[in-house]
Amino acid sequence: PIITPLVAGNWKMHGLLKDLEEARHLQALLTENPAQAEVLLCPPATLIHPMTAILRGGLVSVGAQDCHSLEKGAHTGDISAKMLADLGARYVIVGHSERREDHNETSEQVREKALAAHNATLCAIICVGETLSQRDAGWAEKIVLDQLAHSVPDGATASNTVIAYEPIWAIGTGRIPKPEDVAVMHQTIRDHLADRFALGDQMRILYGGSVKASNAHILMAVPNVNGALVGGSSLKALDFNGILDAY
Ligand code: G3H
Repeated sequence: PIITPLVAGNWKMHGLLKDLEEARHLQALLTENPAQAEVLLCPPATLIHPMTAILRGGLVSVGAQDCHSLEKGAHTGDISAKMLADLGARYVIVGHSERREDHNETSEQVREKALAAHNATLCAIICVGETLSQRDAGWAEKIVLDQLAHSVPDGATASNTVIAYEPIWAIGTGRIPKPEDVAVMHQTIRDHLADRFALGDQMRILYGGSVKASNAHILMAVPNVNGALVGGSSLKALDFNGILDAY
């Protein structure tokens, strides 16, 4: 199948109103030289609305970094998927390792969040990945398959769900796995999706962890890598556009 790659920038807890200038700059670069990929920026929740206003009608979509599993209610400080959709977000990242770790999120909770995203007509980017000690012990695939089994809802489709494989030890460290190790993991994920879902062979599987302009073409050439989830290198338009040049 022909899969349009997705390159998503996760700004994490970075970005003030002044940084919307980077989104504007990225839009200008892409208007000049469009990427052969769908492009997405996921800023902090505070910037979703102003960013959609800046990017409206252009080539860059806007997404969020997390959502609550319920549509509304007494949950101080939380934001529902429906609220994010209401602001113009089209995607939401769920189960990022930083949330699994900082907020003790379980795969079952991640699945509830992905379901909430689907119900709000958002596309869920569901993150999975092993720690370094899990990899060293030879458990990486087992851990990721377990996360997939419990985090991906049965109703997932190629249009409402994207999987992001992020080896935790590659996030923000400048280290990336060997391309052959990425290939093995992405094939493992592909097999799980193809077994479980009718169009699982068309679901996008992103790689994330220290993606930058200098390694993007290597990672993109790996079979079953259908795009990237980019942290640090998505904050500046020029860096992010350098990654998009690999597509
Ligand atoms: O969501 C993005 C990832 O955690 C990767 O972050 O590109 O800064 O390593 P990084």
